[in-house]
Amino acid sequence: MTASFIDGTAIAAHVRDSVGTAVEALKAKGIDPGLAVVLVGADPASASYVGMKARMCKRLGIVSRRVDLAGESTTADVLRTVHALNEDAGIDGILVQLPLPARVDKHTVLESVLPAKDVDGFHSANIGSLVLGREALVACTPSGIMEMLRASDVRLEGARAVVLGRSDDVGKPLALLLMHANATVTICHSRTKDLAAVTREADIVVAAIGRTAMVTSEFIKEGAVVIDVGSNQVSEREQVVRLFGEDSPRLEQFDQRGYIWVGDVHERDVLPVASMLSPVPGGVGPMTIAMLMRNTLTAARLRRRD
Ligand code: GUN
Repeated sequence: MTASFIDGTAIAAHVRDSVGTAVEALKAKGIDPGLAVVLVGADPASASYVGMKARMCKRLGIVSRRVDLAGESTTADVLRTVHALNEDAGIDGILVQLPLPARVDKHTVLESVLPAKDVDGFHSANIGSLVLGREALVACTPSGIMEMLRASDVRLEGARAVVLGRSDDVGKPLALLLMHANATVTICHSRTKDLAAVTREADIVVAAIGRTAMVTSEFIKEGAVVIDVGSNQVSEREQVVRLFGEDSPRLEQFDQRGYIWVGDVHERDVLPVASMLSPVPGGVGPMTIAMLMRNTLTAARLRRRD
């Protein structure tokens, strides 16, 4: 068997188109959905992500507001900004870009976002609603993965799913979503014994552990669906050759830029065993921003009772 790739870029484009159409319909009723993104400090990667979010808003007709706070800001400074956005009638969604500087208390900040405007789905109230199966705003990466699985007609009912990674923003919410879709779910993590034996039982494996190409063919049952959430920067040519071979386009990319992005799955090793595989880049990544746009639309609809 050779796996086919799940085209996250195409599925994300479809989600964005449907959000764009729905935004137009809202605007025709005089409702302009708005997203505020708060960036603390000047980390170039975070600034680039925030720029991408603003451009996507513009494309879809969503009002976007960016609030830049100095890197020296305190927790109280960030809380003041969030409280002002909570009160702002023109803002439906608030996203505080992570990671925050060490002096800012991430938990306090995330809990200060009004749950109805929490388009990241990180507030404990939204996580509680997810646990209860009454979710409205769900974290963008896990809901993007569910959308990819649905768009690829992957059968979830009765399927065995293994989630590698127990993070608050991906592993835990994704396990709940898969369970609500009637999959039988196992969460694995760094202390799991005989990891490969557990994942080899799975019809669906989701790798979200942040370890470059750790998931090899020995982790995967013949015909399984594999979703790669990892995004690891590889800056050593030897490693690129080891992972992709001497005549891979990925090596050309590396030679042009000096680095490439590689997932948690060893693509070349897993492709002959799996039935479907989400690539890195072009898999889960594009879904996340599309789901943020959808969450902003959902927040606007719920808040303004459309
Ligand atoms: N930084 C990287 N990904 C994310 C995300 O999904 N939400 C927020 N708030 N920050 C991020």
